[in-house]
Amino acid sequence: MTHVRVLVVDDALAIRQVLVDLLTADPRVECVGAAATVHGALDLARRTRPDVALMDVRMPGGGPVAVGAMRIASPGTRVVALSGGADGAIVRGMLDAGASGYLVKGTIASDLIDAVVRCAAGDTVLATEVAAAATAEPASVRPMLAILDGTVTDASQAQIPATDDGFLRGDGVFEVMRLYGGRPFALDDHLTRLGRSAANLRLPIDLDAVRADVEALLERNDVQEAAMRVVVTRGGRRLAIVEELKPLPETLALATIEYAPTRVLDQVKSLSYAANMLARRLAQEQDADDALLVTPHGRVLEGPTTSFVCSLDGETLVTPPLSEHILDSITRRHLFDVIEVTEQVIARDDLPRVREAFMASTLREVHPVRTIDGVELAAAPGALTQEAAGRIRAHIEQELGVSA
Ligand SMILES: Cc1ncc(COP(=O)(O)O)c(C=O)c1O
Repeated sequence: MTHVRVLVVDDALAIRQVLVDLLTADPRVECVGAAATVHGALDLARRTRPDVALMDVRMPGGGPVAVGAMRIASPGTRVVALSGGADGAIVRGMLDAGASGYLVKGTIASDLIDAVVRCAAGDTVLATEVAAAATAEPASVRPMLAILDGTVTDASQAQIPATDDGFLRGDGVFEVMRLYGGRPFALDDHLTRLGRSAANLRLPIDLDAVRADVEALLERNDVQEAAMRVVVTRGGRRLAIVEELKPLPETLALATIEYAPTRVLDQVKSLSYAANMLARRLAQEQDADDALLVTPHGRVLEGPTTSFVCSLDGETLVTPPLSEHILDSITRRHLFDVIEVTEQVIARDDLPRVREAFMASTLREVHPVRTIDGVELAAAPGALTQEAAGRIRAHIEQELGVSA
């Protein structure tokens, strides 16, 4: 029987000991270690890659930030919060940050192990005491904040006039950043690209005002793991919205969709994304998860919202060059810094030879591909993909100073 590998995190020695003893006595689980601090827990998690981290909520440095840090340190580890009580705001904060379970201390031993095993299998498990607090105002429907021209508001209340050409013609620019523990990764890169998009689109933009909006929104936002969309319209509106991270499949089935990049929009991340979204829908109509855009002349480009990276020989990674009129992806740039990837024209005819592949983006980081046009790849994720995923995570973690 495969057992669930559990890491115990609690600053109280007595509780640590009780938990370790409980886990050791049950054949369904294995205790891979016990940590007294968040820092120690992150370190152990990186080394032991547990299935579940059973984490005290109220220890120093604990709570939602520790959940976010754990998810960065060991992406496959599911966090189960353990607390003395059931405060609604804390429960929601932990679930928002990505905890898969919330148990209270005093839960009888067999129930606790059952809950850990269920969380490892993908369930979200809440102790009865906390379920009411969590469902009274579920995390998923909590109002997300936005900032419109410098004024913070509920995202659902932010309004742009229907006469704005940003709405009528998709004439505007945007960026999507990812927040880790409430902080944006690569903010400067995104603002630089926003400025470049606006310049290429001949769109007036006040980048200092955009940065001030983002900072004001971050100050008020308390959703730890989220996306932040920044939009500037032809009508002169500045908008930033905190958005939920959407659940994604573990691996992707891709279908190639013919697509010709609009030359005049080269290096413009414009609001005109209908073609990209249609490509995704067309791929989904073929039972794939997403599209792989390929030119009418048979050259592989990217996904509708992702860059494409693959290995044709099982040893090296290649990605289409920017000269194919694909987006200058920020994740793609960071990948060049942390692993060896070569720009290379990839033909549609090369696709049956792909050994492993992944899609890269701000929101997905590295997302493994399992099939292309119904052909199964040798591995998903392959070794190179796993290496890329680990390196990019470590890079994000380092840049954000999470483990500092
Ligand atoms: C067409 C396209 N390619 C690639 C990407 C990935 O870019 P980034 O890494 O900057 O998120 C995106 C992101 O939205 C995109 O829209």
